[in-house]
Amino acid sequence: MKMFLFVIVLTFSTFGTVCGVSTTDYKNLQKTLMTNYSNKVRPVQDQDDTVYVMTSFILADLNDVDAVQQRLVTTAYLRIVWIDEFLQWDKYTTGVERLYFKQKDIWIPDIVLKNGVNKFEELGGEFYYLAVSPNGEVEWLPYLVFESKCDIDITYFPFDTQVCDITFISWSFTKLEVNMTLFEDSPSVDFYDFVENSVWGIKSTGARRSQSDFADSTVTFTLHLHRKPLYYVMNLILPVVLLGAISLLVFVIPADAGEKMSFAVTVFLSFAVFLSIISMQLPVNSEKTSLLGVYLVFQMSIAVATIIVSAFQLRLHHRCEERKVGTFYRGIVRIERCLRCVKSCSDNNSNKKYDWRNDSYEPKVDYDDVGWKDVSSAVDFVCFWTMLFFGIIATTVLVVYMNNGIS
Ligand SMILES: *[C@@H]1O[C@H](CO)[C@@H](O)[C@H](O)[C@H]1NC(C)=O
Ligand SMILES: *[C@@H]1O[C@H](CO)[C@@H](O)[C@H](O)[C@H]1NC(C)=O
Repeated sequence: MKMFLFVIVLTFSTFGTVCGVSTTDYKNLQKTLMTNYSNKVRPVQDQDDTVYVMTSFILADLNDVDAVQQRLVTTAYLRIVWIDEFLQWDKYTTGVERLYFKQKDIWIPDIVLKNGVNKFEELGGEFYYLAVSPNGEVEWLPYLVFESKCDIDITYFPFDTQVCDITFISWSFTKLEVNMTLFEDSPSVDFYDFVENSVWGIKSTGARRSQSDFADSTVTFTLHLHRKPLYYVMNLILPVVLLGAISLLVFVIPADAGEKMSFAVTVFLSFAVFLSIISMQLPVNSEKTSLLGVYLVFQMSIAVATIIVSAFQLRLHHRCEERKVGTFYRGIVRIERCLRCVKSCSDNNSNKKYDWRNDSYEPKVDYDDVGWKDVSSAVDFVCFWTMLFFGIIATTVLVVYMNNGIS
């Protein structure tokens, strides 16, 4: 205990000798500076002069990128520095190297978040101090959670990149009174104890001042974000593509099995479930739709077509064998045989030509063997390959466009 006290005393005494500033000196200096000070007057001797306010944005955390509500939530602080000509003193005669003032006691620029979602709010807080150097340089570090608007373009979801602006404005003063600029020697957007977000990464950052023809003084910090797509690939895209492959199996199941319809409907319902999951993740936006949504709707249309075709096909399958097979259905059978490159296909044609030229034999001979069951299986065959073709085309188009989104 004694040892502890001794250490404390020692520390205090060394401190005293190094700093060499008594509390009275410090208090007197603060009092003198504050005597005629008004925190309502811009801190320049000549009121026609401009106060140059330098700003930078230091990001601590990317909390949320809310696509549904179109906003970006960040935890960050601004580093704001300006020169207060009324808070200057001589470092050597007074021995004071730094003074601290509460935010409400000195003049501060009325900077607010311009593209905020919530109400206009004063930056900073009551409780902490602003450091002032002998040349009048005031450093203010207001730390806040900023909720800013961000137009989120979900066309390439989940391979999308977003550009979000965070704009600060000096609300009351014109550019000639308060000129907000960026630091020249340090980065405009910096990181402080930054925690990686699990869904969004930061690709690059940028900053700019307001245009010269713009009367208000603003600074805009830009974050280029990219979504990490792994979760969505695993949980949305892969299942949907696999489901699309499964939906083709409707045409593999034989009509006799009696499961065709229920299978087709089940696949359709699964697509509906995925569509509702995706629509929960995406904003209500009629101007831009996500490619993934379009792809899902396409797959659902295929599933609907499958149901319709299967229903009619089952009806054909169970038609009475005595009924004559119409030319349209014969056409389908012929297409099937051509696709399969069954020998009979070419034989058929030559036979038919032969018959037609001679005009002596009826061409019936070849079609006699076509029954309703053949029509049904021909429909299966033709539909399977057609849908597979369209499915592959659609998936390829999706992949190609998504790739565009990445680059
Ligand atoms: C404050 O202002 C008064 C009147 O303008 C002046 O007489 C006085 O010297 C000033 N005090 C300081 C510390 O500047
Ligand atoms: C504001 O400051 C910038 C950089 O210091 C300067 O280029 C610009 O002309 C200033 N604008 C006004 C209106 O003074």
